[in-house]
Amino acid sequence: MTIHKIAVMEGDGIGPEIIQEGIKVLDKVSELHNFEIKWTKYPNGADHYLKTKELISEDTLNEIKSTSDSIYLGALGDPRIKPGILEKGILLKTRFFFDQYVNLRPIKLLEGADCPLKNKGPKDIDFTVIRENTEDFYVGIGNRANTGTTKQELEVIRSLYSIKFGLDIETQGSEIAYQIGVLSQKGSERVIRYAFELAKKRGDTRVTAVDKANVLNHIYGFWREIVEKVSTEYPDIDHEFNFVDAITMWFVKSPEHYQTVVTPNMFGDIITDLGAMIQGGLGLAPGGNINPNGISMFEPIHGSAPKYKGLNVANPLATIWAGAMMLDELGEKKSSSLIVNSIEHLVKQKKILTKDMGGASKTSDIGTELVKIVDELNNK
Ligand code: IPM
Ligand code: MN
Repeated sequence: MTIHKIAVMEGDGIGPEIIQEGIKVLDKVSELHNFEIKWTKYPNGADHYLKTKELISEDTLNEIKSTSDSIYLGALGDPRIKPGILEKGILLKTRFFFDQYVNLRPIKLLEGADCPLKNKGPKDIDFTVIRENTEDFYVGIGNRANTGTTKQELEVIRSLYSIKFGLDIETQGSEIAYQIGVLSQKGSERVIRYAFELAKKRGDTRVTAVDKANVLNHIYGFWREIVEKVSTEYPDIDHEFNFVDAITMWFVKSPEHYQTVVTPNMFGDIITDLGAMIQGGLGLAPGGNINPNGISMFEPIHGSAPKYKGLNVANPLATIWAGAMMLDELGEKKSSSLIVNSIEHLVKQKKILTKDMGGASKTSDIGTELVKIVDELNNK
């Protein structure tokens, strides 16, 4: 029997509660489809950090690397800790450590889910965003430069950005801050190729590439060139370019146009929150951080919602769906689609739903109900 070894990081806030429901449903499916999941919990998150000052250590990451097939993550973020510490120290650290260069975010409106767009339904909202996940403005290169900065450093900053300050920074004490976005040929090419391959596998006819090449021409002009180059390997798939500002408009106006969307990191962060809304809200938006040849990590795209911690009211559907994506990546395709179909069934039947979706059920009721639905649909 196949055994999948999963490292679990429940994280903060509602993390443990929603992960528990994911485990419930995945365990049930594994029973039905004859494989086994071995879960190993890791305590990394706010409490662990406050107790030990450790975010996530190289030792832990290496241990996961040598013992796990995949990572299942709840959510990170805690009001006791300054924003950015846990996100950068655990989430981004793990994405980068495992070189999870694809951030896969299905934007799919399930039958029965509430869509805020007038006259749009499940047929109109069904596309995939592939977000580059290791480069761009996420590389962490930047600083604040004040009057102590050397002339030479200022020259570098000036030329890097072509900024004309119009005043003498050295003598007028005007501080500057800078952060550099970096794209590499390799880093862009691999994620763009992943997008075209996925489009091909799904029979999509078009890939839309996002950028802001009209202004940030150095990096996104480069991105466009790489899209052009990779696209020549896929003569049966059309490609087009959308500016990031325009695509936010088109996602709302004509979501039915989109099939496969590939985007640099930061724009992908922004447009997938919008994507989450048009698919019925953050409660229904899963994501995968994928290294196609390594260890991937699956998570809901929402945060840790600290104010609902421990109340058993949070919506676990995004997390359960992320679990389904994890099974897909592990090769358990049948189990993966059984879970997604079951979620859709649950949403459509509108009986057992959490408060955010207009219901009155508890977090734990959702997993329990899904276990029943999974069983029913499996026997059909
Ligand atoms: C996301 C989140 C993260 C990101 C944060 C928490 C670092 O917003 O997964 O979309 O910016 O990638
Ligand atoms: Mn985000």
